[in-house]
Amino acid sequence: MCVNCHEQNAGNYVRADLLSEGQVNGFPTYRLKWARVGSIHYRMEECYSQVRATPEPYGSEELTKLQLYLAWRSNGLLLESPAVRR
Ligand code: HEC
Repeated sequence: MCVNCHEQNAGNYVRADLLSEGQVNGFPTYRLKWARVGSIHYRMEECYSQVRATPEPYGSEELTKLQLYLAWRSNGLLLESPAVRR
């Protein structure tokens, strides 16, 4: 499902949000909506709930494997720190 938004539609809008490639070089990130710093698992939970998928618990094997894949995918990007998101 991630591919539908972050690969096939990166650069397009979903409602008011401009879809990025879903990279992880800015995590953990400060998010204005959360009013605090949050982890990549926390961010992925929101993507799960946006498509009404069954949420995975933080630290679960599935999210950890996905995190590893995303980190591999972000390989070569500059670290963005401090990162701030809406
Ligand atoms: C319905 C569309 C949609 C789907 C499906 C989706 N996301 Fe997202 N995702 C978003 C939106 C909207 C944002 C916030 C804007 C952005 O950064 O793209 C976001 C943000 C992110 C970010 C933060 C990027 C940043 O730099 O702040 C990551 C990482 C991410 N998604 C990963 C995933 C993963 C992994 C999946 C699959 C489990 C997934 N997304 C599925 C819509 C989606």
